[in-house]
Amino acid sequence: MQEILEQVEQKRAAARLGGGQKRIDAQHAKGKLTARERIEILLDPGSFEEIDMYVEHNCVDFGMAETKIPGDGVVTGSGTINGRLVFLFSQDFTVFGGSLSERHAEKICKVMDNAMKVGAPVIGINDSGGARIQEGVASLGGYAEVFQRNVLASGVVPQISLIMGPCAGGAVYSPAMTDFILMVKDSSYMFVTGPDVVKTVTNEVVTQEELGGAVTHTTKSGVADIAFDNDIDALLAARDLVDFLPLNNREEVPERPTADAWDRIDDSLDTLVPDNANAPYDMHELIRKTVDEGDFFEIQPDHAANIICGFGRVEGCTVGIVANQPMVLAGCLDIGASKKAGRFVRFCDAFEIPIITFVDVPGFLPGVSQEHNGIIKHGAKLLFAYAEATVPKITVITRKAYGGAYDVMASKHLRGDLNYAWPTAEIAVMGAKGAVEIIFRKDIGDADKIAEKTKEYEDRFANPFVAASKGFIDEVIMPHSTRRRIALGLRKLRNKSLENPWKKHDNIPL
Ligand code: HXC
Repeated sequence: MQEILEQVEQKRAAARLGGGQKRIDAQHAKGKLTARERIEILLDPGSFEEIDMYVEHNCVDFGMAETKIPGDGVVTGSGTINGRLVFLFSQDFTVFGGSLSERHAEKICKVMDNAMKVGAPVIGINDSGGARIQEGVASLGGYAEVFQRNVLASGVVPQISLIMGPCAGGAVYSPAMTDFILMVKDSSYMFVTGPDVVKTVTNEVVTQEELGGAVTHTTKSGVADIAFDNDIDALLAARDLVDFLPLNNREEVPERPTADAWDRIDDSLDTLVPDNANAPYDMHELIRKTVDEGDFFEIQPDHAANIICGFGRVEGCTVGIVANQPMVLAGCLDIGASKKAGRFVRFCDAFEIPIITFVDVPGFLPGVSQEHNGIIKHGAKLLFAYAEATVPKITVITRKAYGGAYDVMASKHLRGDLNYAWPTAEIAVMGAKGAVEIIFRKDIGDADKIAEKTKEYEDRFANPFVAASKGFIDEVIMPHSTRRRIALGLRKLRNKSLENPWKKHDNIPL
């Protein structure tokens, strides 16, 4: 018996060694952790339970029959993050470059199926040379099996992708269909075709990092959410992110005890909005002063920074926060901001996370490039997302809420549950100067008259009371009591029940 137990230990040890010490050293030399080291950091100590450790590929071509490595390039199983169950897979670059074979795909599919059965998040750690070249179409089929599960799991359990090495070709589409993508600078990249193909087809010369590195995707393309300096930072951030998320779409948001008083007053907020209506201020300050202990997990902080999206907690419970940022493009809505926030609002709605919206928006960003690139369709994404959302929606207008952007930003008309305004709010079709220059176009040369009419327009509309008189604003609140009002509102809305009409699915302007 003892001998059999020892044999099992030896088999386990061999499987844990993956592609061997030489390749592990090579992985470390690139500044990357191994698949198993990553799991150790991601999960609570000792919580990982591996499955399918002895799975081998079934390929016999190109000498593969003689080269079998237990596990076949991906470590799969489940464990806990701060005591909460998650399922995961971690591709092992030391085994055939982490490439995806039929069996490798089956292992990933099995953890995804298990996660769906019990309703727990799936975390994928991607570090792979793509389709196992020796297997041909079998590996393509494997990818498609994973894609199908990504789609079925979308909106049912949270899916998080960590990109910690190559991720190229069609392989990028699995992470692309997950909810959040975290990347590591200088060691991970995502592209559909690499620099060599790009050079051949378009004659453009570009490095891997420039084409699809972490900085590119978290600033320019918006494909990924956050870039980290190294594997450890990315893995620890994934733990933080999971802490905010419900395990599935039928679970309540997680609750974390907090010492932060729900009715904490913050007098400094009374002077947050500058006297000059065109001067910027940092909306992060309001967010941090509203949420428990200032703890805010921002999504896509470096992309479309004119809108801020992220998770915080009020009275220990997760909320999604969407806020215009006056420091960037004056907080205008543009294509990037609409896509970013539209997707975030839909995530919150899918997982029953209440949405708090802070509004200071002078309108949609004007420009030929915006129009030609489809601001109409992209702006409609955010409008659509807010309008279809049935979760509790609390809106606070701090300053400008102009034009169509007023409507879009979780207004009363889009079923906002509680719509508050600070006394500094200005709710109007547009800014006073622009409005007067249109209404009194023929008097444009008469500076005194224009100034007089501008003042008249400001007096009439540069306040929240016209909107409040129509019931579009439920209450004009003091900035210092924002957290208290939001906490009270969330309590009231805890049992909110609202259903959209039955349909197979909607037709959001993609
Ligand atoms: C089989 C692979 C592999 C692959 C790498 N390896 N990619 N084996 N299939 N796709 C093996 C290598 O042979 C090598 O084995 C080991 O992994 C490490 O690879 P290196 O090249 O030494 O590493 P590195 O220099 O870091 O380069 C990594 C790499 C490169 C950039 C990923 O390996 C590469 O270009 N691989 C091919 C990528 C590719 O074209 N994949 C198919 C894409 S199409 P040894 O034994 O020497 O250690 C695709 C379609 C998906 O994925 C479609 C889904 C719908």
